Amino acid sequence: MIGTESVADALAERGWACMHEFLPDALWRALAAEVQAEHARGRLRAAGVGRGADYRLAGDVRGDRIRWLETTAVSRPLREALSRLDALRGTLNRELQLGLFEFEGHFALYPAGAGYRIHRDQHRGSRLRVVSCVLYLNAQWEAAHGGALRLYFDEAAEQAHCDVLPEGGTLVCFLSERFWHEVLPARRERLSLAGWFRRRD
Ligand code: OGA
Ligand code: MN
Repeated sequence: MIGTESVADALAERGWACMHEFLPDALWRALAAEVQAEHARGRLRAAGVGRGADYRLAGDVRGDRIRWLETTAVSRPLREALSRLDALRGTLNRELQLGLFEFEGHFALYPAGAGYRIHRDQHRGSRLRVVSCVLYLNAQWEAAHGGALRLYFDEAAEQAHCDVLPEGGTLVCFLSERFWHEVLPARRERLSLAGWFRRRD
């Protein structure tokens, strides 16, 4: 396990980092309750792929339901999580001079059986997303539940990969341009807050 300052070191050395307990227990549980309440109110939408004119729904590619974070009317737990992410953004800018300007993100709920096929996070023709971040919001996740984030280290060698379990409080971040990755289907519902530190347009 590594601390916040080491996230910058790991990103610099190998392009990705994983930190357990990035969020305290009470905080990620409150966020999980928020996503579930939004879902119950019908406020999550089937996620699409692509951007602008390329945008399309693609249930065969990704099965998550999402809600983009707004800047207004943010709940207290969400404000707290965003302020921790902003502190991380400051550290990454200071240590790595990445010029990260803002965070865009969404809550995501993958129903049991849903995944997200192998992809990269940068939209075609846009390199604004520099660092991808995913915060997991699931209690007592076990390997047998599936649902790992699979990060591929080398496009050519599918066996060179690492699996991160979506355990509550865990943060994973990686360079958006570099890593192909996928979300393996899970046997149970899988909750997260996923987003990107972006450079200025
Ligand atoms: C994404 C994504 C990974 C995860 O939303 O683009 O790759 O572990 N999410 O949820
Ligand atoms: Mn992704």
